[in-house]
Amino acid sequence: MNEFPVYTDGLLTRHDGISLHTLPPLSLYVHIPWCIRKCPYCDFNSHQIKQPVDETVYVEALLRDLESELPYFWGRPIHSIFIGGGTPSVFSAHAIDDLLSGIRARTQLLANAEITLEANPGTFEKQRFQDFAAAGINRLSIGVQSFDDRKLAALGRIHNRQEALAAIETALSLFPQVNIDLMYALPDQSIKDAQADIKTALDTGVNHISAYQLTMEPNTPFGHTPPARLPDEEGSDDIETKIHQELAAAGFERYEISAFARAQQYCRHNLNYWQFGDYIGIGAGAHGKLSSANNMVRTTRVRHPKDYLAAMQDKPEVAIDRQNVLPQALPFEFMMNALRLTQGVPTHWFSERTGRDISCIQPAITQAVKRGLLDPQPQFLKATALGQRFLNDLLALFLEN
Ligand SMILES: C[S@@+](CC[C@H](N)C(=O)[O-])C[C@H]1O[C@@H](n2cnc3c(N)ncnc32)[C@H](O)[C@@H]1O
Ligand code: SF4
Repeated sequence: MNEFPVYTDGLLTRHDGISLHTLPPLSLYVHIPWCIRKCPYCDFNSHQIKQPVDETVYVEALLRDLESELPYFWGRPIHSIFIGGGTPSVFSAHAIDDLLSGIRARTQLLANAEITLEANPGTFEKQRFQDFAAAGINRLSIGVQSFDDRKLAALGRIHNRQEALAAIETALSLFPQVNIDLMYALPDQSIKDAQADIKTALDTGVNHISAYQLTMEPNTPFGHTPPARLPDEEGSDDIETKIHQELAAAGFERYEISAFARAQQYCRHNLNYWQFGDYIGIGAGAHGKLSSANNMVRTTRVRHPKDYLAAMQDKPEVAIDRQNVLPQALPFEFMMNALRLTQGVPTHWFSERTGRDISCIQPAITQAVKRGLLDPQPQFLKATALGQRFLNDLLALFLEN
C-alpha cells in the first residue's frame, strides 16, 4: 500500500510563542461562482452568466477577502490552492494571473504548492490553457462527465466528446497533473456505456479520475423532475462495480470514495480536507476551517455573488460568518472526513487535529471494530471494506462524543 504524503508546517514559531507545528497544514480555496450555462443536476453555488462578469472587480474582492482573513492565519504557509466553482475557466488567464500574484504578495505560498483550476471543456482554448499554466496553475481538473454525446446532451452539458478529448490532450501537454471528473448512473446508461466512458478516459493517459454517481439534488431541475430511464439502485451498483474494476485493472488506486489515482498522483488539496487539515475559503459562498491553539472556527461567505461583491467593496466582515465548532461535534467531523480515505489516517491525528482525547471515541471504536466496520489495527483509523460500504452506519457511531 502506498503511504500518503504528510505535509507539516515545520517548526515555525509565531511572535506570540505558539508553536505552529501542532497545527495541520493550511490550504486556500477560491470560489468563482459563474458558469456559461447551469447544468440541471448541479446544486453548487454557480450562476449562469447573463451579462458580462467584471473579472477585475471580482479578483479585487477576492484579494480584499483574503486580506480580511490574514490575521487568522498569520505566519502559516499555504500548501495548496484550489480555484473551484462554478467554472473558473470562464475567467481569462490574465485574471487568474492577477489573482495568483495577489495571493503570493499577501501570503507565504510554498514554492512547491499544488495549484488547481477547475475547467469545463466548453471553455477550452489552447492559448487560454497555455496562459493558465504560465500563471502558475499546475493541476487542471476538467469536468468531462461522459464521453458519450447523447449522455452529455441529456446532462445539459455545453460540450461534446471531441471538445472534451481535445481539452484533455492539450491539458496533458501543459500541466504536470490533470484530473477528469466523470459521472455515472446516467439516464439510459448501461454497464457497457459506462465501460466505454472509462476506457476512453483511460486511453487519454490521465493519472487522476474522480468518478461520481449522479445524484438528484433537491433544489435542481433534475431534483424536481428526474430524467427518464435512470438506472435503478441495483443497476447503479453494477455500473459502479464495473467502473471500480476497470480502474483497478488499469493501476488506479481508489484512495477516497470517489477519487482514483495512478502513480500516487493524489490531489493534495482534497487530501488535506479529508485529513482534517485547515483551509481558508474565499469567494462567494466559500467555506473555511481554521484551527488555533484552543479552538476551531468554521467560516462561511455570503452566497450570492451580488451580495458578496457589495460587502467586499464596503465592509468585508458583513459577508463572513465565523462559528466556533463545538468540541462534541469534532469527533464526528474528523471521522466523516478521515474515513473517506481508503488508507484511513494515523490514530494520533485524532487528538492532534481535534484537540480531543482519543478516549472520547474509544467506545465507538470498540463497537465499530466488533461490527466489522473499522479496521482493528490500533495505529490507524480506517474503515474496512464493509465500513466503506455502510459508511453512514459507521459514522453514526461517532455522533456526539
Ligand atoms: C464544480 S464542478 C466541476 C467543474 C465544472 N463546473 C464542470 O462541471 O465542468 C465539480 C464536479 O461535481 C460533479 N457533480 C456536480 N453535480 C453533481 C451531481 N448532482 N451528482 C454527481 N456529481 C456531480 C461533476 O462531476 C462536476 O465536474
Ligand atoms: S458547469 Fe459545473 S459548476 Fe457549472 S452548473 Fe455545470 S456542473 Fe455545476
